[in-house]
Amino acid sequence: MKTLGLIGWRGMVGSVLVQRMCEEGDFNRVNPIFFSTSQNGKAAPILNGKASGILQNANDFDSLKELDIILTCQGRSYTKKIYHKLRMIGWSGYWIDASSVLRMEEDTMIILDPVNYQAICDALEMGIKTFVGGNCTVSLMLMSLGGLFVNNLVEWVSVATYQAASGGGARQIRELLNQMGMIYNHISQELNDPSSAILDIERKATEISRKDFQIDNFNAPLAGNVIPWIDEQWENGQTIEEWKGQAETNKILKTTHIIPIDSICVRIGALRCHSQAFTIKLKKDIQLTEIKNQIAAHNSWVEVIPNDRDLTLKKLTPSAVSGKLCIPVGRLRKLSIGPQYISAFTVGDQLLWGAAEPLRRMLRLLIK
Ligand code: HSE
Repeated sequence: MKTLGLIGWRGMVGSVLVQRMCEEGDFNRVNPIFFSTSQNGKAAPILNGKASGILQNANDFDSLKELDIILTCQGRSYTKKIYHKLRMIGWSGYWIDASSVLRMEEDTMIILDPVNYQAICDALEMGIKTFVGGNCTVSLMLMSLGGLFVNNLVEWVSVATYQAASGGGARQIRELLNQMGMIYNHISQELNDPSSAILDIERKATEISRKDFQIDNFNAPLAGNVIPWIDEQWENGQTIEEWKGQAETNKILKTTHIIPIDSICVRIGALRCHSQAFTIKLKKDIQLTEIKNQIAAHNSWVEVIPNDRDLTLKKLTPSAVSGKLCIPVGRLRKLSIGPQYISAFTVGDQLLWGAAEPLRRMLRLLIK
């Protein structure tokens, strides 16, 4: 049995990963060792009712280099600090990483096996040992529209994202929920009085959001608001989040001609599902039924939602999809701009297919 070191398993992505590994029986196929950057020597988590030993020191190279596989959800700074040094001292095990640090390096693969399974197998044959999860919006776009991409139907894509607080981290979800609670507490009396004027209630809510919200993490109010900026600024005016769309998608698909993809990435007050609205130019004019068939046939998780009001409200929202592996895609129609242009809207759980699940499935490939 291979020995697996788990690092960053207590955070949001790590917790979802461990939960999924328990559900899928992955811990029966591997010898897990849990690491910590701050609590080595303490008890490791209980898995399926069984203790899993003592936490090891995640900064100790002697312990790390004994491992067959390292799976880290610890974040960018851990990868930056450990990865290259570990390789330099001769460690040749498999490194699976949730952070973006190594994604675009030449000798690494971005993993999303429902889309690039064959490329992952080829990489393993070629001796590639470093596998990195993609950006969440990229993975969720490819899970939803993979059928169009792999059938070489996409000329370009323009995206508007609606990204959940969880993409920022645990503190960001707390910040959002605190803001929601604060608004309610401030206006609850008037809200429960049917005779009160709605514009007075709105004004009170807006005022408190401007004056009293804690905005340490998002740097702007999120409850009752949207923030059209995610991550740092790139030289050309894109944000880094926007830059990743084209760069990572084309790396995953191993395209010989770049498929242009650009976006405006927006933070909204959803909890853990990212949504995306796409305008797509197809390479040719094909029937909408054929488009839907190609999308639906691509993988077992994508679900085409008919362009119907009730079904859209029932199935194509963050609150409907949260905690689920399904990838609904709807609002599919030909645009009035021309017969090669279509719209699509998708929702996906940012912590599952957007983060933990591709890592878990890569691990499963290595230990099967
Ligand atoms: N960068 C993403 C976000 C997280 O901020 O929503 C998932 O990669």
